[in-house]
Amino acid sequence: MKKELFLIAFLISSIISFCQKETLNKTSAGFPVNYEEDSVGTYTLPDLLTLSNGKKITDAKTWTEKRRPELLKLLEAIEYGKMPSAVPLSANLFDKGTLVLNGTAIRKQVTIYFGKDTSDHKLDLLVYLPVNTSKPVPLLVNISFVANCQAVDDPDVRIGYTWTKEGKHIKADQPGRFGKMDPSQFISQGIGFATFYYGDIEPDFKEGVKYGIRSQYLKHGQSLPADDEWGAISAWAWGLSRVMDYLETDKQIDAKRVALQGTSRLGKTVLWAGVHDIRFKMVIASCSGEGGAAISRRNYGENIKHITDTSRYYYQFAPAYHTYANKVNSLPFDAHALVSLMAPRPLLLQTGDTDYWSDPKGEFLAAVGAEPVYHLFKEKGPGTTVMPEAGDISLMNKLGYYMHKGGHGTIPSDWPLFINYMKKYL
Ligand code: GCU
Repeated sequence: MKKELFLIAFLISSIISFCQKETLNKTSAGFPVNYEEDSVGTYTLPDLLTLSNGKKITDAKTWTEKRRPELLKLLEAIEYGKMPSAVPLSANLFDKGTLVLNGTAIRKQVTIYFGKDTSDHKLDLLVYLPVNTSKPVPLLVNISFVANCQAVDDPDVRIGYTWTKEGKHIKADQPGRFGKMDPSQFISQGIGFATFYYGDIEPDFKEGVKYGIRSQYLKHGQSLPADDEWGAISAWAWGLSRVMDYLETDKQIDAKRVALQGTSRLGKTVLWAGVHDIRFKMVIASCSGEGGAAISRRNYGENIKHITDTSRYYYQFAPAYHTYANKVNSLPFDAHALVSLMAPRPLLLQTGDTDYWSDPKGEFLAAVGAEPVYHLFKEKGPGTTVMPEAGDISLMNKLGYYMHKGGHGTIPSDWPLFINYMKKYL
């Protein structure tokens, strides 16, 4: 009887998964999309523990001093594009610490200015900090698709502006595209919560470069960044570093215990930001997929050809990345390299079992591929080469992997797991 029930459950879940796959895009940018494990192709990942001069690496020191800079440079020049250095910090704390959340937290709102023209290039950061503490607090910084007033349920958050796909900058006085986040779940655990809108740094569309921070750095006669210069993801990551510059000046925050969280393209962003700026202690990258933690050499779901097509997200990457659309196997790195560059800091990759487009297995395999680097630091990776089931929380190690049951995005049940992860490793 038990066996039959199991068989029925298996059949139902296979039918559901078949139907879900049937509704997926069969092509993107005119290129076919593969969702069959049998057709992912064979590939060899570049060896993370061999220097470009052929020498093998067996210790953390050589990794940090020699191999890490090599890989970082490659990722910078080929995938995300080089970003400019820091700008002098200038900020206006216009909400200095209002008591909120039934007296359990204070809220701060600050405008951080950057770029040469401070009037246009600035972001509004919203911060909640627990009050019952004598020490500086750890903080989660979320980079968001919506304005701060749309991200949380707090009528006193300043109404911001967001970009439409048509290039209009409009007042964010309507509800946002996504559900709200709840800062109180962090506050009750002694953790601060901060969020800001990614479009404050650079709007997320093809022409965005004209309006965003990258426009400030184009050389005379240049209308687009050069082959190895920053795409929008690098611009957003650069903005995160400017947020960190500010956080370092707030005595109530422990800037050495700041975790980043972002979803989808913002999952790619936090991963790259954490890799690039080692001041970030922890990264939680949700459904980062292609151009994030998913192995590009696996032809499953979105691939480089789809994502870097000029009709899609070419502008999010260094232009050079597009040249690998038809020669992914000659890429001198893959997503396991990106993941490994977080070592030995904690990194959690969160995915969803029906987020086929983002290739959750490709992200798992990147963690498996990066694990030897964590081992150099005597830290644990997933600890298995067997893809876990949805809901399995046993792989949330220093280099951790967690796949919820469901699709693309961050769902309410993910947040308590993130908080546990932060409490364990931050
Ligand atoms: C598209 C894109 C993905 C990206 C996602 C998102 O689906 O192809 O690479 O992660 O948008 O940001 O929501």
